[in-house]
Parts: sequence; C-alpha cells; structure tokens
Amino acid sequence: MGYFLAVANRKGGVGKSTISVMLAHAFAVWGGKRVLLIDLDAQSNSSLILTGNAQWIEAQKSSRNIAAYIEDRMYGQNPIADYIMRGVGDIETDDGKPAPIDLLPGSLQFEDMQDELISHYSRHNTPFRQAKARCSEHFRRALHFAAPLADLIILDCAPGISNATQAALRLADQVIVPFRPDSVSEFAVDKISMIIEAKDAEQLIATPHNERKYKCLANYVRPGGQDQVFIDTIAADHPTLVTQMPMSGDLANAFFWSPERQTLEEKYGTAVQPMAALFRELSAYIPV
Ligand SMILES: Nc1ncnc2c1ncn2[C@@H]1O[C@H](COP(=O)(O)OP(=O)(O)OP(=O)(O)O)[C@@H](O)[C@H]1O
Ligand SMILES: [Mg+2]
Repeated sequence: MGYFLAVANRKGGVGKSTISVMLAHAFAVWGGKRVLLIDLDAQSNSSLILTGNAQWIEAQKSSRNIAAYIEDRMYGQNPIADYIMRGVGDIETDDGKPAPIDLLPGSLQFEDMQDELISHYSRHNTPFRQAKARCSEHFRRALHFAAPLADLIILDCAPGISNATQAALRLADQVIVPFRPDSVSEFAVDKISMIIEAKDAEQLIATPHNERKYKCLANYVRPGGQDQVFIDTIAADHPTLVTQMPMSGDLANAFFWSPERQTLEEKYGTAVQPMAALFRELSAYIPV
C-alpha cells in the first residue's frame, strides 16, 4: 500500500507546490518509485508544473481532476483511477524513460465543490460542526482509495485549512511543512503543527519531536547565515530537517513545465544538490 506524504502550511507562497513536485521527481527518478501527486489546490500550481497549460486545460474539459472525482463520489462509487493522468512531467530517468509519475490534477472548481459538499452534508438541519466533520471524512475516504495506485502518494495542500487540507493531514503518514525563515513563519508553523497532531499547545510541547508526524523544511534560505536565527527558533519547538533549500533562481525556473523531456540535472541546475540532500535525508524516514 502506498505511503501518504502531505506537504502543507497555512501560509501561502512558502514552496509547498515546488517541494511537492521536487519530491515526486526525486522519489520517481532516484528512488525508482511509482509516485502519484494529488493536487489539492484550486490554483493547480503543481499540476501546471507537471503537465503545462494545454494538458491541464484538457484535464478540466474531460473532468479528469480532483473536483470531479470528489463530487462524483457524492453520488456513486467511481474509481479514483479513472480521474488520474498517467506518466506526467517533463523528466526522464537515466535510461531515457519518462519518470513514473501520475497526477490527480487540481481544478479551479475545487473551492466551489467544497462549498457544495458542505451543503450536501448540512441537509436535514445537521449542525455545522457535524457537517464539517462528515465533509472531511468524505475527503479522507475518497483520497484513501489512492493507496494501491502508487508507492508514494504526495498530497500538495492549498494554503489555509480547508476541509480538504484537514482530511489530507489526517490521512498522511507524514507531513512536510516548508517555511520561509522570517518573523511570521513561527506563528504559521505553530498553528499547523497543532492541527497535524490534533493537540493543543500544551499537549504538543509534551510530545517529543521524534513522535510527531511532521517535519519542517526551511526554504528560500539566503546565503550569509542571516536566516539561521529564524530557523533555530522553529527547530527549538518543532522537528526540523537538517537539509535547507536555498533561495535559488534555478529552483524558481524549475516551476515551469518544459515541452522537452530533461534529466533532473537539466531541470534543476544547481538546485539538484540540495534536492539530492533532501531526498537522502527523507529516504531515512519514508519507508517506501
Ligand atoms: N527555494 C526557492 N528559491 C526561489 N524561488 C522559490 C523557491 N521555492 C519556491 N520558489 C518560488 O516561489 C513561488 C511560490 O512557490 P510555490 O508555489 O511552490 O509555493 P506554495 O507554498 O505552493 O504557494 P501557494 O500557497 O500559493 O500554494 C514560485 O514562484 C516558486 O518558483
Ligand atoms: Mg501551492
């Protein structure tokens, strides 16, 4: 059964989609694993990185996307495999084959669909809290059907804490929390860690770092060491990976899909070194 890895932070623009796609590439090419990425964000950034505009638009038209899948499961038992795009991405393995990455694409309809789901579960005057819990359980169950389809299932979460994100955090075997080393990141990491662990602040502090199911990852780290004070503040309270992702023009460029297949070295340029370090460090924690 596949291992569920969520990439989440309440804060926007911290590199969730970039890291999700990077991990999909690393585990597929260097780890030789079958990877499925599920895009839980209406912005669909990771889908666009993996497929480019034209294929993503096609996936919207043909209803092969997360919103169509979750909505269809309100009324039937449609298999998740019917909504998945196979062999996506612009990366080839060392022997020239497409990297084994599948995608359940994101959809612009995803937010509207979540509202519809809440109305569905609010029928018959069901109290809001109960409706929300049922909605989250609908997501969790629907996503769990992906388990047999890949060795590693990466859940790229939207910023904020939607029902879909809460379900992904419950389902995940492990969560990576990318953060920008700045003065507000501490607050964002504190918040999401309590949601991941389903604990209040006191209970969280009493939980040893090695018993928590999330790991923080410093991203956009500038050279010169001035960010270290923010990273140390996070690491004092939260399990934090030793690997740091530098602020990198090559990494920013890797955000764009290329019509030609490339090697990881070609796509990521100088960022391939920290990417390899991240892959090595995570391989010790991710049993796939
Ligand atoms: N280490 C980095 N160095 C330089 N640019 C980066 C780095 N990591 C991410 N970026 C860039 O920052 C922008 C935001 O990244 P990304 O979309 O991955 O963040 P996100 O957390 O998924 O955002 P959102 O909350 O909107 O989903 C993108 O343009 C991406 O290319
Ligand atoms: Mg994103």
